[in-house]
Amino acid sequence: MGQFDWTPEIYLERIRSQLPRYDELQDQAVAAIPFPPDRVLELGMGTGETTRRLIEAYPDAWVIGLDSSPDMVFRARKTYDDVQLARMEDPLPDGPWDLVISVLSINQLDDEKKRALFRRVRDHARSLVIGDLFEGSQLADLVEWSGGEITWQSGDLAVIRATY
Ligand SMILES: C[S@@+](CC[C@H](N)C(=O)[O-])C[C@H]1O[C@@H](n2cnc3c(N)ncnc32)[C@H](O)[C@@H]1O
Repeated sequence: MGQFDWTPEIYLERIRSQLPRYDELQDQAVAAIPFPPDRVLELGMGTGETTRRLIEAYPDAWVIGLDSSPDMVFRARKTYDDVQLARMEDPLPDGPWDLVISVLSINQLDDEKKRALFRRVRDHARSLVIGDLFEGSQLADLVEWSGGEITWQSGDLAVIRATY
């Protein structure tokens, strides 16, 4: 999508029509957070839909978001103070993090990049929450690579939580 032909509202409308349980997935991701976090890193922040819910649940949390799309970053910066144009497969902003969270973004990476990301997260974070759409063996692989557990599953959507 180009910078001027969409808005966060259009994005939400489109994603909700493709994924009718989008809101449930977001709620379940926030419900999986294992303890009140102070410092949070969000991978693939997008329009900040996960961020909004996280801050509602944990008003004291400080969220740093990253996204590889300049359009997404441009929009998200209108609402959130710390949004970085960066790819999650590159070095992450300095931790340590109480929580690394990512909804509907991790599955954009290939398996090797996912494994490398989880190794880095484990070294720099006390917990990890992933909400995504999983096909085939992807869910079992992510549970293994992250050292986590499934906290919610509905059809091909699931939430994984790990504490380190
Ligand atoms: C489907 S959106 C999800 C956005 C938001 N987390 C949500 O739940 O609505 C996926 C986001 O991940 C971002 N993204 C995709 N690949 C990425 C990468 N390698 N590094 C960082 N962000 C990435 C996209 O730009 C997009 O904003």
